Amino acid sequence: MKQISEGVFQRNRLLYTKNLVIGTTHFQETILTDEGTEYRQWDARSSKLASAMLKGMKCPIKADSRVLYLGASHGYTPSYISDIARNGFIFAVEFAPRVMRDLIFVSEKRENIAPILADANKPETYYHYISPADIVYQDIAQKNQLEIFLKNTSLFLKDSGHGFLALKARSIDTTREPRKIYQEAKAELSKHMRIIEYRTLEPFQKDHCIFLCTKK
Ligand SMILES: C[S@@+](CC[C@H](N)C(=O)[O-])C[C@H]1O[C@@H](n2cnc3c(N)ncnc32)[C@H](O)[C@@H]1O
Repeated sequence: MKQISEGVFQRNRLLYTKNLVIGTTHFQETILTDEGTEYRQWDARSSKLASAMLKGMKCPIKADSRVLYLGASHGYTPSYISDIARNGFIFAVEFAPRVMRDLIFVSEKRENIAPILADANKPETYYHYISPADIVYQDIAQKNQLEIFLKNTSLFLKDSGHGFLALKARSIDTTREPRKIYQEAKAELSKHMRIIEYRTLEPFQKDHCIFLCTKK
């Protein structure tokens, strides 16, 4: 097992994290035990962060990071961030009650995840629950996803922190070429943030890209 980033490991073309809750899985993920350590396999087809890392993107999440996660859904990627930020904390914002139920089950097993039922477009509604974050990670398929990201990073991201923006081209415009949409988003984002890395996510995720950035 080769370590490629803090808390993230690779064997062949597959990623793994050390399971924070030994003996527990949430998504029928494969468990592998190597030299007495239990690892959970992390599927790049179900996680934009995993696909970005397989495409060589650096991951600034540390064992003690505080993370604001926007668009937590069932908790798939949040559960892996919970393995990585094992001494840190994840505020997991999701607005769909249907998937919130699963997120609550995951967070009941993982003490470093707090599920928050809220609209990421209205950060004033959860402002009082969140402390300044080392990482703001956003994976929300909305037309105004860039605006939502800028609102949240300006309110919650520490000056020394990092923001991830996973962008779904089809949510912005279904008719235009995704690469054109990425270029426009890059130009707009770079007016407000310093972009450190950028990756398209093929072949793992169709019509998605991800930006890693810091405050200017
Ligand atoms: C692509 S899924 C996220 C998958 C998840 N990040 C993962 O990797 O496991 C996008 C999620 O964003 C949620 N979402 C969309 N708009 C939102 C908003 N304005 N506020 C909060 N959640 C939102 C959707 O309900 C959906 O669950």
